[in-house]
Amino acid sequence: MKAIIIQNFGHADNLILGNWEKPSPKANELLIKVEATALNRADILQRQGKYPPPKGASPILGLEIAGEVVGIGENCQKYKIGDKVFGLLSGGGYAEFAVISEAMALPIPENWTVEEATAIPEVFLTAFQALHWSAKLQKQEKILIHAGGSGVGTALIQLSQLLENEIFVTASQAKHQKCKGLGAKHCIDYKTENFQEIIRQKTNQKGVNVVIDFLGASYFMDNLKSLAIDGRLVMLALMGGIKVSEVNVAYFLTKRLQVIGSTLRSRNTNYQEKLTAAFWNYAETKFKNGQLKPVIDSVWSWEEVTEAHRYMEANQNFGKIVLRVDS
Ligand SMILES: NC(=O)c1ccc[n+]([C@@H]2O[C@H](COP(=O)([O-])OP(=O)(O)OC[C@H]3O[C@@H](n4cnc5c(N)ncnc54)[C@H](OP(=O)(O)O)[C@@H]3O)[C@@H](O)[C@H]2O)c1
Repeated sequence: MKAIIIQNFGHADNLILGNWEKPSPKANELLIKVEATALNRADILQRQGKYPPPKGASPILGLEIAGEVVGIGENCQKYKIGDKVFGLLSGGGYAEFAVISEAMALPIPENWTVEEATAIPEVFLTAFQALHWSAKLQKQEKILIHAGGSGVGTALIQLSQLLENEIFVTASQAKHQKCKGLGAKHCIDYKTENFQEIIRQKTNQKGVNVVIDFLGASYFMDNLKSLAIDGRLVMLALMGGIKVSEVNVAYFLTKRLQVIGSTLRSRNTNYQEKLTAAFWNYAETKFKNGQLKPVIDSVWSWEEVTEAHRYMEANQNFGKIVLRVDS
């Protein structure tokens, strides 16, 4: 089959359209003819050789797909040949064919495009897990979402908005209006403003109940300062480094703070299946009635994968970058 291959770890130029062995479904898996996949920040790290796929996962990039069922493992019962499905993978999405556990495959609603469907799994499952399972977000709390214009950020804003949260985001200025359009109330330009000072000022010095962080070290102390009593900090990425030179640990006691780290890809299949089921149970109707929507920045042919990676690396996207898998 055709697939995007990493010739050598490094630059986006090292991605080429080549040939790879077609996967075959195990007993509980479906074989999918991939019609669309989408980029995630993790793809860039993996392409650079800094984020190896988990044991047993395909070395091909691509954490989500939408397409048609063309093969069925012997224990599968839910889908038939020709059904259109989408879902999360631990790898293998940038390819003509991919396998997915049947329990992780979700049916594509009739009036949706494959581009819309593939823009959902990674960012919405991450956001749902962070807000509902890790932070245990409550109605009408205050929340700070970093990287509000990222794929995950656009899902976090929408899910927080459903709980009537007062939403603060950090994002570059050009993305502020779009963040507000999704439900953010306060947008902070992290390049020119100090988010911690603005949050304290706008909350009467009380702080926010929850912070969702992707920066790690560079934001750690300001995240602690931004949190209210009983606040929860959920750490999902380390874009700003891993070592903090000085931490005032008194914040943990005086404000009774919790810090929760989480990942999605490294979780076992059983966990990912439960998360997918809980998410779809919560979100299916909300997607169908328009309360939630995939936010698509742009759609590219997979022959343009190098340009699409460069575009993400330049922080140009607001929401998801989708790749059409043209046969
Ligand atoms: N732990 C997990 O389970 C999990 C799962 C999925 C993704 N992630 C992580 O979540 C993050 C977002 O992923 P994605 O695919 O949605 O990324 P993405 O669409 O590429 O967005 C990343 C955005 O971060 C913003 N940013 C960069 N530096 C910033 C800073 N100092 N402060 C605030 N915003 C900043 C940039 O937008 P601006 O224009 O605003 O600068 C950039 O566009 C990545 O780090 C990814 O690894 C974690």
